[in-house]
Amino acid sequence: MTSLENTKETDSTKQNLVDNFKAVMQVSWNFDYNDAVDKVQDLYRRAKTNQWDADELDWDTVIDPSKPIVRRGDTQYSNMQFFERLSQTQQDTFVAHSTAQMLSQFLHGEQGAVMTAATVTHAVPDTVAKYYAATQTIDEARHVEVYDRYIKKLDIHYPMTPWLKQLVDVTLQTEDYRKIMIGMNMIIEGLALGAFNNMYRQTDEPLLKSITFNVMRDESRHVSFGHVFLKPLVAKLHPDDVEDLAQFAFDGVSILTNPQKQIDPGFLKVLEVSDIDPQDFAAGLKEAREHGIGLKLPPGQVHSLSDLMVPALVRAGLITARTKELFVNAGVPVNEDLTVLNAMEDAKSDMNVLNEVGARY
Ligand SMILES: [Fe+2]
Ligand SMILES: [Fe+2]
Repeated sequence: MTSLENTKETDSTKQNLVDNFKAVMQVSWNFDYNDAVDKVQDLYRRAKTNQWDADELDWDTVIDPSKPIVRRGDTQYSNMQFFERLSQTQQDTFVAHSTAQMLSQFLHGEQGAVMTAATVTHAVPDTVAKYYAATQTIDEARHVEVYDRYIKKLDIHYPMTPWLKQLVDVTLQTEDYRKIMIGMNMIIEGLALGAFNNMYRQTDEPLLKSITFNVMRDESRHVSFGHVFLKPLVAKLHPDDVEDLAQFAFDGVSILTNPQKQIDPGFLKVLEVSDIDPQDFAAGLKEAREHGIGLKLPPGQVHSLSDLMVPALVRAGLITARTKELFVNAGVPVNEDLTVLNAMEDAKSDMNVLNEVGARY
């Protein structure tokens, strides 16, 4: 059996196919059509002129199922001595399946983004922000489409990681459009933009590279929206309201960073398919840490939490003195360096995003 033949989702990784729940919905009409933030107007214009059609990508690209679609040496696990001790088949299978598991998170996360962007469309009071959020909604639908089509080509499916689903659900269940933007445009999209950048750099597979490139162009706008719309708004709020939003931001990030969170059943499946004992894997991680190797990312790759998510919250005034202490006590350093975030969010041209980040790293 080749590494990619064992591809079908098994019972242990199956997720309910439909999950329905009711959420509180804020609806805001605005009959003042002149009420708009200038920079959001710019983003809306960029969104309209940079639309693309998934059908124009080369879906006939043949993907060799016997080869991992990312370079093993560029993954975050590549420096671990543990992996050197595995057989070639185990290494290839792990890389193939952990990549597929990540792509499934892109797919499921994008579905969450369709819903959160639609929610912002009806909840945000600013007229042009509504237009902009509508463009983000179609962007996100296109992202679901491309990752769904790509995963169908690979034929390796993984369920949504529980904490990613929890974060999207918490965001969808808030009654406050500002919290939806914090959950989506800062936390989840900070996570996604970092992951897309790293995937773009790890793969030479031309179809995945072109998908990721196009998706990142859209995502850089989405992260900018959180910035240009929320920052001036937060600056005018009463300190108690800022604390409320800052607490939501801390709670959202904590869903991702909580060391007590359950083991992802999808990742356990990756280990099982690769014939790797989870205990041995944990020991391998511990060994790497003891040798100071850790999970340091290769050059050019970014750390979503410290390079994008936390700086985005800092920039928007959403980490207060009180919540900064909470972050530090939770072991999350509050990085205030905006270099990577600014580079990935180039305001002049979406096309420059990758070049600028590449030039710096
Ligand atoms: Fe997206
Ligand atoms: Fe997005």
